[in-house]
Amino acid sequence: MINMIKETRSGEKMSKISIKVTPPGPNARKIVEEDTKYLVKTTKSLPIVAERARGAFVEDADGNVYLDFSTGISVTNVGHIHPYVRDRVAEQLDKLWHFAGTDYYYREQVDAAKAISESTPGSFHKKVFFSNSGAESNEAAIKLAKAHTKKQEFIAFIGGFHGRTQGALAFTASKSIQKKGFFPTMPGVEHAPFPNPYRNPFGIDGYENPEELENRVIDYIEDYMLHTYVHPDNLAGFIVEPIQGEGGYIVPPKGFHTKLRKLADENNAVVIMDEVQTGFGRTGKFFGSEHFGVEPEIMSLAKSIASGIPMGAVVVKDTFDFPEQSLHSNTFGGNALASVACVATIEVIKREKLLDNATKIGAHLKKGLQELASRYDAIGDVRGLGLMLAIDFVKDRKTKEPNAKLRDAFELNAFRNGLLTLPTGLSAMRFIPPLNLTEEQADMGLEVIEKAVRASL
Ligand SMILES: Cc1ncc(COP(=O)(O)O)c(C=O)c1O
Repeated sequence: MINMIKETRSGEKMSKISIKVTPPGPNARKIVEEDTKYLVKTTKSLPIVAERARGAFVEDADGNVYLDFSTGISVTNVGHIHPYVRDRVAEQLDKLWHFAGTDYYYREQVDAAKAISESTPGSFHKKVFFSNSGAESNEAAIKLAKAHTKKQEFIAFIGGFHGRTQGALAFTASKSIQKKGFFPTMPGVEHAPFPNPYRNPFGIDGYENPEELENRVIDYIEDYMLHTYVHPDNLAGFIVEPIQGEGGYIVPPKGFHTKLRKLADENNAVVIMDEVQTGFGRTGKFFGSEHFGVEPEIMSLAKSIASGIPMGAVVVKDTFDFPEQSLHSNTFGGNALASVACVATIEVIKREKLLDNATKIGAHLKKGLQELASRYDAIGDVRGLGLMLAIDFVKDRKTKEPNAKLRDAFELNAFRNGLLTLPTGLSAMRFIPPLNLTEEQADMGLEVIEKAVRASL
């Protein structure tokens, strides 16, 4: 069925960048204008107006075709409108859409829960709560942690991002504007420094001395926080991303997550692993925590879980299930269309060996970015795992002073040359293409990246 569908408006296949009108063109400008009139301000940064998308490409309202290294913020991990996912959802469209999975029963959400349980790390039996977004997953995770530990306080990390609802917002700390004017958020949340190897308050070079950095952070929490202002008897748990996403694609040293989990266990607390951005193959493993050898007992998921149909989930060790009915619920969780898309997405990742591809093409792309960094001093750091990659723009390589202005200029120049990218952190640009990116497409992207760096200096 999918082969009969036009990819671009003129019926061509979307296989290369094609900029016909300098973007934003007249049609795009009109939609941006109306969007500004009718929608509340959010976090928009580029005037890209998408009309159609397929695989790694997006066509805008003026017929320009872009290579998509942003995947709707790491959502379309198997590429836009993957034919298998599309066909499964199309079949489901004639069967059942919504039936309040929290209150009634149907097979599709059980299948999705099973597929997720079998793909997440940990050989223990797991249970799933379905939500509709990353923030809502974290809200549920917080309640599950409180119910399990019968404690109420949490420690999150500076640079962490966990959503923008008033509960999840309490944990979020990647940009101060996120909280501007919104206090009080959920009380009982403190923040610890994250072991950022590139820039950290301890002045440690975490690439050279990873263990020193992870120990310093763990000691800071244990010796300082737990002794002076978070009593262990109050500490329900930690919330942490395996690799910080919105904080700038920060990969902590290898041993950090094991040490954090040990600290949590010693204090009868839990670790909520927020895999909303790192999940479903983004890092070359099914879940980011697998790079660090930890098996989370509570894991938050969303974004790529259903290839663009809104869905989130919390996966818990079965002993973490709520002790009784009605402590938590929602209306749309486990929606039948989303559940089918979730199972299909997992099948595609496994069947098409997308983890191997993300690892292989990710290494190729990273090498290209490192070569670029060797030619341009403005790139201070190249980091990431799999196809979760970023470059950090600096004013000075020695001081590592962030250069957000240059990063923003890069984003615009990449866009004008047909590549969609997404800023992250203080001064980094992330590259998160679909996991089935080809080497040819990676090279296509690298060519634009270099052009955009040059045009921005
Ligand atoms: C790690 C992480 N957690 C939670 C969220 C919030 O997800 P949502 O925007 O779906 O609420 C995000 C979104 O970027 C995220 O990256």
